[in-house]
Amino acid sequence: MKLRTTLCFLLPIVKSALSYKTQLHQRDDLASSPPYYPSPWMNPKALGWEEAYKQAKDFVSQLTLPEKVNLTTGTGWQGEQCVGQVGSIPRMNLSALCMQDSPLGVRFGDYSSAFSSGQTIAASFDRDLMRRRGEAIGAEHRGKGVTVMLGPVAGPIGRTPDGGRNWEGFSPDPWLTGEAIAHTIVGVQNAGVVACAKHYIANEQEHFRQVGESQPRGYNITESMSSNIDDKTMHELYLWPFADAVRAGVGSVMCSYNQVNNSYACQNSKLLNGLLKSELGFQGFVMSDWQAQHTGVASAVAGLDMSMPGDTEFSSGKSFWGTNLTLAVLNGTLPEYRLDDMAMRIMAAFFKVGFKVNEQPKINFDSWTLDTFGPLYYSANEGHQQINWHVDVRGENGEHGKLIRESAAKSTVLLKNEGALPLKKPKFLAVIGEDAGPSGWGPNGCDDRGCNAGTLAMGWGSGTANFPYLITPLDALNFRAADDGTRVEAVLNNSATTQIEKLVAQESATALVFVNANSGEGYIDVDGNEGDRKNLTLWANGDELIKNVSSICNNTIVIIHSVGPTLVTDWYNSPNVTAILWAGLPGEESGRSIVDVLYGDVNPAARTPFTWGGKQEDYGAEILSELNNGEGAPQLEFSEGVFIDYRYFDKKNITPIYEFGFGLSYTTFEYSDIAIEKQEVGNYTPTTGETAEAPTFNPGNFSTDLADYLFPNGSFPYISRYIYPYVNTTASAAEASQDPFYGSTAEEFLPSNAIASSPQPLEPAGPGLSDEPGGNPQLWDVLYTVSAKITNTGDLKGDEVPQLYVSFGGPDDPPVVLRGFDRLAVEPGQTVEFRANLTRRDLSNWDTESQNWVVRDHVKTVYVGPSSRKLTLKATLD
Ligand SMILES: *[C@@H]1O[C@H](CO)[C@@H](O)[C@H](O)[C@H]1NC(C)=O
Ligand SMILES: *[C@@H]1O[C@H](CO)[C@@H](O)[C@H](O)[C@H]1NC(C)=O
Ligand SMILES: *[C@@H]1O[C@H](CO)[C@@H](O)[C@H](O)[C@H]1NC(C)=O
Ligand SMILES: *[C@@H]1O[C@H](CO)[C@@H](O)[C@H](O)[C@H]1NC(C)=O
Ligand SMILES: *[C@@H]1O[C@H](CO)[C@@H](O)[C@H](O)[C@H]1NC(C)=O
Ligand SMILES: *[C@@H]1O[C@H](CO)[C@@H](O)[C@H](O)[C@H]1NC(C)=O
Ligand SMILES: *[C@@H]1O[C@H](CO)[C@@H](O)[C@H](O)[C@H]1NC(C)=O
Ligand SMILES: *[C@@H]1O[C@H](CO)[C@@H](O)[C@H](O)[C@H]1NC(C)=O
Ligand SMILES: *[C@@H]1O[C@H](CO)[C@@H](O)[C@H](O)[C@H]1NC(C)=O
Ligand SMILES: *[C@@H]1O[C@H](CO)[C@@H](O)[C@H](O)[C@H]1NC(C)=O
Repeated sequence: MKLRTTLCFLLPIVKSALSYKTQLHQRDDLASSPPYYPSPWMNPKALGWEEAYKQAKDFVSQLTLPEKVNLTTGTGWQGEQCVGQVGSIPRMNLSALCMQDSPLGVRFGDYSSAFSSGQTIAASFDRDLMRRRGEAIGAEHRGKGVTVMLGPVAGPIGRTPDGGRNWEGFSPDPWLTGEAIAHTIVGVQNAGVVACAKHYIANEQEHFRQVGESQPRGYNITESMSSNIDDKTMHELYLWPFADAVRAGVGSVMCSYNQVNNSYACQNSKLLNGLLKSELGFQGFVMSDWQAQHTGVASAVAGLDMSMPGDTEFSSGKSFWGTNLTLAVLNGTLPEYRLDDMAMRIMAAFFKVGFKVNEQPKINFDSWTLDTFGPLYYSANEGHQQINWHVDVRGENGEHGKLIRESAAKSTVLLKNEGALPLKKPKFLAVIGEDAGPSGWGPNGCDDRGCNAGTLAMGWGSGTANFPYLITPLDALNFRAADDGTRVEAVLNNSATTQIEKLVAQESATALVFVNANSGEGYIDVDGNEGDRKNLTLWANGDELIKNVSSICNNTIVIIHSVGPTLVTDWYNSPNVTAILWAGLPGEESGRSIVDVLYGDVNPAARTPFTWGGKQEDYGAEILSELNNGEGAPQLEFSEGVFIDYRYFDKKNITPIYEFGFGLSYTTFEYSDIAIEKQEVGNYTPTTGETAEAPTFNPGNFSTDLADYLFPNGSFPYISRYIYPYVNTTASAAEASQDPFYGSTAEEFLPSNAIASSPQPLEPAGPGLSDEPGGNPQLWDVLYTVSAKITNTGDLKGDEVPQLYVSFGGPDDPPVVLRGFDRLAVEPGQTVEFRANLTRRDLSNWDTESQNWVVRDHVKTVYVGPSSRKLTLKATLD
């Protein structure tokens, strides 16, 4: 058993970490990932990181070998209070750094908020709101003592509409996701916690992401699936938003469970050393997703900087790093500079967001229990003491609740309105559907919200947070109705056909039908949905419910809470369905935010951040849900290239029901006067030159005597299953390692330059030595400024979201791609100007030959309009 486990951890080293064409002949025809070594070391002059680098250097220079190892390795699953914690450095007064989910709040927190999902906020097309939401979520983490907030998400980006975790991210459009992730990161880090852009990369489905999850479901695989992507698609689609994250200064990146081109993402040198740290010039640190690390030295030289949660498998007490990392430096396999660089990157991110070693906020909550007292070391069940101070982090005077209400309302998309909305003191409201009311189990009744009951305000999995309260649509409607003198009755049971029919058949009825569709993370199966959705229809007979109500009631208003598009095909066009709203996953203020929109206190302006197709096949790309490579890694071919979501519909000329970027208002707008200003910029020059040599901060300053690395008996108690940087025996390094393959494994397969420390060439598309991370700075040169006039032609004030699309004109290009947007407030009768810049990057294709961005010669057309298919204004770029 033990041997088998070890073997399956070894195989990936041989065949993929180092990108050897494997000895396993049957794999020869599979996609492979090119090697990229050595691992880039931090650059002291990287713009925005200079001060953080200095502070980190000052700190790291004083550390011993085990202290550095402590920074890089988690103490094990449920080792302490946070979902992940590394070792502390008591001698330097550094307490353990705390990594905590989630992208929409503090997972497992009490007295903390449940924010709207990333996908929901993407619909706002409102950069300021994205930043303010990030700031508030960041502040809550900071208030609980968290160091690194595990979010925001750009992987999955949403390759397929049914991907289980799409709602944690933003949008299948990379430009929109890039803006959203960047503004969120700025917000989070302004609040003084490190953000973590995840999951890097091509983590586009839940099926087969982990062996341990797949086997019990009858899929006997020995490796995680491989997302096979070509270089152009990688750059133009999946990597795009991560470049924006890096440019926004993100402190950490989480590598994902899946393989990319048959090399695990956490040991894929091309992804980590090549794309992320060299081409994008990322200066922060890479941490593994929980159990996504599969090797020791191989992952270290491929660019991984932090092992999470530190153990090989949850609670195994063993680690690829910890003791093994200490030994790997002692036996000379891993160069000291690589360990120094890991420590530098971690500490630089820490200092960059304003943490101070002697004033770290105390971790004042516990992930594993809400009790006040309990074991500090949960896995070991040791260290009983106070572990939760129940600190309320929701801002002064319920500030965050107000922000959540505002953001959910501003993110609600009005898809159809035949004069039914806004409601004006309606006589009689019939509220229909279990999605309108509470769950009988309570809002947090299922672990990580792994069930679907009552109104849907969050998906399921690790990307969730406890609700401090959940205002249901019915709660808020009742209060509004009472104020207005409206009669209101609700039937929450979707199967109560008799009662529903009786209610909505009443002559003056306005029926509000609430429906939903849920999904989440792969470790939880809800109703046969193993993370990913098994279909695109509504849950709990929602479509039948709508059809039934609308066959009787000529004023049926549908409100959808969902994790992405659903198939509205059968009923959206019924004349009796007088309005349709998509409210996403609104979070704790669900009820008040939908009432704000239904009654027109907030004039809707949000736009759907994905396409609503007539049928599932219209989307092209599909989830792989059956094995296709025997017991080897399932092969997920991204053969659709950049053509996902609207780019696919446009290319194939498939008419969607609601196109990407579509959304209505209670007022009307007119577009006019498109104008293009060409800006004077120089020619693009690829970056040239070399890095400095790899620095070390106290070179060779460590003993090679194993006795100096023994667990310091007597200084502090040994916690069982805890991961330490120490050795257990002085008998031999091999015995201390407890690795049966010690001395004969990873390093045998290390390419010669994997441990080189000499100056390395800079990437042509990457930043120069004193540039900002993200890429060659000239990619952000503004080539054109586009402007247009927007007039509010109705009688209500409202926001409008003008969108800028570009047609690149090449034979392989999507018909149009989003390249700009704004959300503008316009008074009735008022005309405002929309302005958007087109950068060099915005107009470039990735050229695989020169490994750089190139503006091709094809004539480019720009469009400004209210959606991806209402391209009202048009102009040509010269
Ligand atoms: C490593 O971290 C553990 C857990 O926080 C701590 O007990 C130990 O003293 C640390 N070791 C060193 C060398 O700092
Ligand atoms: C650690 O904290 C103690 C007590 O506050 C202080 O005396 C000492 O100088 C600090 N050490 C470092 C390395 O900051
Ligand atoms: C699963 O795969 C392993 C390794 O290939 C094989 O030994 C085992 O028999 C398989 N188990 C089942 C249930 O098919
Ligand atoms: C070192 O890593 C190997 C796997 O590479 C593992 O089997 C062993 O248990 C690890 N040692 C320790 C002390 O965690
Ligand atoms: C789709 O999945 C949902 C959730 O599991 C289920 O309620 C529904 O019945 C399914 N739809 C169809 C058409 O099978
Ligand atoms: C619309 O509702 C009316 C009742 O108000 C009903 O008679 C009619 O059949 C419905 N129409 C459709 C298309 O369902
Ligand atoms: C619905 O039907 C009623 C009675 O037949 C009629 O008074 C009302 O105007 C209709 N409403 C709509 C929105 O068509
Ligand atoms: C190391 O030794 C301690 C006892 O000192 C023991 O409890 C622990 O299991 C050992 N750890 C490993 C990884 O063998
Ligand atoms: C060095 O130590 C690492 C970590 O235990 C081990 O994987 C590797 O095989 C060792 N190499 C040599 C040459 O001893
Ligand atoms: C466009 O770019 C110019 C110059 O870089 C900058 O000053 C301006 O703020 C940008 N405008 C917009 C709308 O981003």
